[in-house]
Parts: sequence; structure tokens; C-alpha cells
Amino acid sequence: MTPSTSTSLSASLDRIRQQFPALSRPVIFFDNPGGTQIAQPSIERITKYLVESNANHEGAFATSIASDAILDEAHRAMADFYNAASPEEIVFGNNMTTLTLHISRSISREWKEGDEIVLTRLDHDANVTPWALAAQDRGVKINWVDFDVEDGTLQLDELQKALERKPKLVAVGYASNSLGTINPVTRITQMAHDAGAQVYIDAVQYAPHGPIDVQAIGCDYLVSSAYKFFGSHVGILYGKRDLLEKLFAYKVRPATNHLPGKFETGTQNHEGIAGVLGALEYFEWIGREFGGEYVEGLREIGYKGRRLELKKAMTAIRAYEFELSRALLSTLEAVPGIRIFGLTDSRRLEERVATFSFRLRDMHPRQVAEKLAAENIYVWDGNYYAINVTERLGLEDQGGMVRVGAAHYNTPDEVARLGEVLKKIAG
Ligand SMILES: Cc1ncc(COP(=O)(O)O)c(C=O)c1O
Repeated sequence: MTPSTSTSLSASLDRIRQQFPALSRPVIFFDNPGGTQIAQPSIERITKYLVESNANHEGAFATSIASDAILDEAHRAMADFYNAASPEEIVFGNNMTTLTLHISRSISREWKEGDEIVLTRLDHDANVTPWALAAQDRGVKINWVDFDVEDGTLQLDELQKALERKPKLVAVGYASNSLGTINPVTRITQMAHDAGAQVYIDAVQYAPHGPIDVQAIGCDYLVSSAYKFFGSHVGILYGKRDLLEKLFAYKVRPATNHLPGKFETGTQNHEGIAGVLGALEYFEWIGREFGGEYVEGLREIGYKGRRLELKKAMTAIRAYEFELSRALLSTLEAVPGIRIFGLTDSRRLEERVATFSFRLRDMHPRQVAEKLAAENIYVWDGNYYAINVTERLGLEDQGGMVRVGAAHYNTPDEVARLGEVLKKIAG
């Protein structure tokens, strides 16, 4: 499947943007890696849930039955989004961090003193500290995989070395929230499985940008957050059924022992989960409207029905975002006094998402972000919780970096405006 450079999605940005009420404001949102704007179908699902079916779980009456039907449908839809084998493999929770802190407690119960695990310095802290805390509790050693400071890619030779020590787990990000690097997660999973390790993938920063297929990757666990993919504040964990079934669940006694409920502790954020369903319905619309050119290749892989529409959508989004990445890269590179961190080779755009971190002259990143905000351009600054990255780059005590992250609703005109304003700031 070769993504075309001019997709029907890129020619229809007005229609896309009309799906986002927040985008009617005279503001440019480049803070997307911190959280995207919410799509209208997600807002509608949340409102409809609260008006028509607001109730607790498993009651005998109409609103509870309707509520449970929506939650079931959201599990099925997320299984389709991840291409999981079954909806029982989908666990909803507060957010990625809370889900990871929770499930790491169950997973690490199987570890013994002297065991080892592998973490990376490229990961967001939510895929680092939960495992480090569990390791501390169990007397388990951590082996670190570094990244190349020149191009922001993971050092796979270090991973291979760490795997020779037969670790229990490899926790790795799909895409870096800091440098934008996409890690070769299928290869990493294969390498880890060959060494007998389980693989936990943080897909928070990849989910808004491209198609995910947990069966093709072969990973044991994968997690994302819907507020980063145009939906509500809810996290979604995938785990292989046989693993989840065997894992001990920290839960209260009356709660179910079955999947996925045994890991969905307490009363869930029902309206938020309805909002996840709405975000996926938005993607389905994209697939139907703008994914036509990808249908044959994706059918050949075996996707059908909603799975096919979701994959068409995410493939169309990924193709359009190549254009945005290319435009952002050349625009940023043209700003005097800029230093971009991570992959800057325009021939390697497939190895990154459209998230770029930089520093401008000797300015503090907060100062640059404030000057951009004064021109109605919203970006992030600091370490964005990828604290190992800023430490490794020697920037942690200097305010970190400025981060510009595009989503598929951003336009080439917005990129051009960013360039103009940055040139003005650079002086
Ligand atoms: C790569 C990555 N992982 C994990 C998280 C944490 O996600 P949550 O806010 O859902 O806990 C973030 C949030 O920025 C992230 O970018």
C-alpha cells in the first residue's frame, strides 16, 4: 500500500474540520500530543448517554439495560479499532497511566526476586514508573534501552543485549510523545517473544495517527487514551485473552470474575466510554468518505465491516499526515536559530508521526510557547512527562523543549502561519 501524496482527505479538510466544534475558534491547535479536540459524534454520544441511558451496571430496568448495551458496543468497537480477537480483551479505565499502574500490579505478581525487565529512555513516564515501582516491590532489576540522541530512534542492539538476560517484560512505546519516533513494534515484539518476554506497548501517541493491529504486532498488551484520538477522557487496554484470564485481578468481591469486567474496577466513566464509541464512529465516517483508495489492499489483509472502515480511516489519516510532517519539517527548518530534536531526514518520514520538538536560539521553551500563544498558536513546552528524554538530551533543567504536534484536522495554512510567527519570534 503506497500512500498517495494527494488524498481525498487532504482535499476535504473543511468537511473534516466541521466535525470539530472547537475548531471554529480563531486558534491553531498544535497541542495535539497533549490532547486532541473532540469530534462531534463523540460529543453527541456523551450527551445522548447522559440524557437517555444514565444508569449503573446490570440493573433490571430499561436505562441500565440500554447503558450496558452501549458499554458492550464500545468494547466491540474498540476490539475492531485494535483488531483484537474479541471484545473480552478490551478493558476500559480512567486513562493510560491508571490502567498501567493497575495492571502492572497484576502482571508483576508473577515476577520473582532476581528477575529482570526492560524499559526504554524514549518512553513517556507512564510506561516507565509503573514498571519501575513494581520492579522495586518485587526485587526485580531494570535494564534500560537508550535512544540515539541524533535521530531519536531506539537502540535495538541494546535491546538485543538486554534480551539475552531473559527478561520477563519489555515495555515500549509505539510512538514517542516527545520526539515523534515510531518504534518498530512488530519487530521488537518478535525479538522479545523469541527471548520469552512479554510485551506491553504504549500506543497513546500512535493511535490518533495510524492503523493499529494487535494481532499482526503479536503484542501481549497495548494501551491508548481516547482523549488523544478525538474522544473522551478514557483509557483503553488490550490484553491477550489467555493472559488476562490467568492474571490475578485486584478487585472487590462482588465484582465479576469474568473478562473484561474483572479489571474494570468500580463504576466506570459510562458517558466517557460512550464518547469513545462516538470517536470510533467519527473514524468510521472518515473511512467511508475518504478511505476508498485503500480498500483493496486492506481487504486483502482480511479486514471486514467496521474493522475495514476503521483501517481505511487510519490509513487515510496517516497518508495525509505525511504531507503535514513534510510541511512542518521544512517550515521549522527554515526558522533561523532553531534546533530540532529527533528524526529530521525527510526520506524517513515513515519512521515518525507529525510531532516535532525543538529549541529556538537561547530562549526558554516556556517563553516561546507564550509568544506563540499570544498569536493564538497553542503548543506544549517542557518535558511532557517524557522525562528520560529531556534528561538524556541534557535539557531537563533548561525548560525542556517546545513541542508542535499536528493532527489530521490541521491544515498546510496553519503550518505556514506557525512558520511566519516563529520567524518573527526568532528575530
Ligand atoms: C506516550 C504517552 N503515554 C502515556 C500517556 C499518559 O496518558 P494518560 O493521560 O491517558 O494517562 C501520555 C500522555 O501524554 C503519552 O503521551
